[in-house]
Amino acid sequence: MSSTIDSILVEDRVFPPSRAAVEGAAVPGMASYKALCDEAERDPEGFWGRLASEHLRWRKPFTRILDESRAPFYTWFEDGELNVSENCLDVHLENGNADKTAIIFEADDGTVESISYRRLHARVCRIANGMKSLGYGKGDRAIIYLPMSIEAIATMQACARLGVTHSVVFGGFSSRSLHQRIVDVGATLVFTADAQLRGGRPIALKPAVDEALAGEGGEIVRKVIVYKRSGADVAWDDGRDVWLHELEAAQSDICEPVAVESEHPLFILYTSGSTGKPKGVQHSSAGYLLWASLTSQWVFDARPGDVFWCTADVGWVTGHTYIAYGTLAAGMTQVVFEGVPTYPDAGRFWEMIQRHKVSVFYTAPTAIRSLIKAAQASPDTHPRRYDLSSLRLLGSVGEPINPEAWIWYYNNVGNGRCPIVDTWWQTETGGHILAPLPGATPLKPGSCTFALPGISAGIVNEAGEDIPNGRGGYLVIKRPWPAMIRNVWGDSKRFKDSYFPPELKGYYMAGDNAQRDSDGYYWIMGRTDDVLSISGHRLGGTEIESALVAHELVAEAAVVGRPDATTGEAIVAFVILKGRTPEGPQAEALARELRDWVASEVGPIAKPRDIRFGNNLPKTRSGKILRRLLRVVAEGQEVTQDVSTLENPDVLKQFSGVY
Ligand code: WTA
Repeated sequence: MSSTIDSILVEDRVFPPSRAAVEGAAVPGMASYKALCDEAERDPEGFWGRLASEHLRWRKPFTRILDESRAPFYTWFEDGELNVSENCLDVHLENGNADKTAIIFEADDGTVESISYRRLHARVCRIANGMKSLGYGKGDRAIIYLPMSIEAIATMQACARLGVTHSVVFGGFSSRSLHQRIVDVGATLVFTADAQLRGGRPIALKPAVDEALAGEGGEIVRKVIVYKRSGADVAWDDGRDVWLHELEAAQSDICEPVAVESEHPLFILYTSGSTGKPKGVQHSSAGYLLWASLTSQWVFDARPGDVFWCTADVGWVTGHTYIAYGTLAAGMTQVVFEGVPTYPDAGRFWEMIQRHKVSVFYTAPTAIRSLIKAAQASPDTHPRRYDLSSLRLLGSVGEPINPEAWIWYYNNVGNGRCPIVDTWWQTETGGHILAPLPGATPLKPGSCTFALPGISAGIVNEAGEDIPNGRGGYLVIKRPWPAMIRNVWGDSKRFKDSYFPPELKGYYMAGDNAQRDSDGYYWIMGRTDDVLSISGHRLGGTEIESALVAHELVAEAAVVGRPDATTGEAIVAFVILKGRTPEGPQAEALARELRDWVASEVGPIAKPRDIRFGNNLPKTRSGKILRRLLRVVAEGQEVTQDVSTLENPDVLKQFSGVY
């Protein structure tokens, strides 16, 4: 059997950029995009060196650009020194933007608080001074376990200001996950809050920290700095716990940023991963910041009056690069939201776009698909009911966006005016890798289009050889780039084994399958672990899922394989409808209709053998569908795997009917 993947879905709708999108864009037109790509191709080091000198403020200029001598442990701008927080905040104070709004924070209950760059800078300095007063400094590591808040961002920036490496842990994770990360990272400081507020309810955070620190190895944490968010009663350890507001009150507004080497680890972020212990993805300071800032400017086409809103949590890489770092470095005004998209109702996102006149909106396909379903159920929450005329650009991240969800987003949220940047990237890549440029790239719904300038992406077979357009294979990045992962924290072997398998010629292996169509557009076909093998054909699940979602009744779908004696694997589709979940004869009839639909949309080979209907799919806390659990259900077995990372653990029980 060949190692390449068959592509079966055909999508031929093309959306060229409008005149408004091209005019004044950071990268206007495909010729400008190609010029940047050519520059990078001709002289990669010269290209990155130029951008790093132009876009970052250095304390000590670098003289070397890339060191490949210890590949895959690449280093960038190694002898240079800078401070990340200085590049995100101080630069704007000096260029006349001190009073520009940095963050518009909207709380779960709708309360709004805005903060200018000047005031954010002052808060960051006070927190950093407070940390210094407790004896923390460059080389220390801190865990940040905070709700979405100005405080979370200020705390990340304060760490960066001192050269303290942070590791943010999503507030939805349990004390067990927290404990694991505290120990793995060797943190001596933890930031947390008494509680977080989501969907109208307080969810305690401090007790999880207390529990985590009581566990083995937890005693290395000397101080816990607590942000008072809800006023809930908390247990208090006088020797260890400190209120953030009390700490800040005693500090000056000025804290000199500490210059760090380019390679100094800015942060470590754990990726959940489908198997094994989470990997601590280690990022650098200079290379990471350069790409975070550049992609904010190129892909979101940052413009002076923009109000940017990325709905991700700072616990994920998206919230690092496009909330805490890149968008601040680019001097943008951004909305930060504490709550959930469905509270008080599923119109919350649209209402907030209207209220804050958001111009660039960046969210995940899982949110879009669930809001499509919600808009069907309660028409009052349909985006068309709101004034969304402030929008000029939409974005998507985290999973493949099915073409029909793309079209819905384009028509109903963007009113047919706003380009959609479908951005493919990973925790490990630091920033966008495959993505359109809104003022240049003609869009195809469901495609993340092309590699950004300087990124040498490719699609290869298991021997690392290029695969012709039209066939799927391993998505790789052939040359190093400044924002790439530097190591798996404390596990160099795992770093090499996971990302640089020897048979792939030293290329970075993303772990996704993808194909390029005849125009060179990239299409992500799913994780390599999720490939289906049907009658000798290897299929990526994404295409079949997209075909199902293209049916007018379907909101969301996930397909997996179950072993089959004749075809190798049989396709099992888990389908969530926009309306009510059907049963009995009604479900049978609909299953038949969906099978025929897939057969006519993509071909008989992709026809699901079993269809199972439910109300929602099992997802990670960052909204990714957990297909490995569905595989167990598809095989008719009991789920015995750890489901603690599930956002909704009861979800697997509902798929009992097989149609
Ligand atoms: C998937 C999130 C298709 C992909 C930034 C990748 C996507 C994984 C897209 C990384 C996209 C992310 N289209 N798939 N636009 N964006 N993915 O580390 O499988 O949380 O490998 O980083 O999400 O997830 P991570």
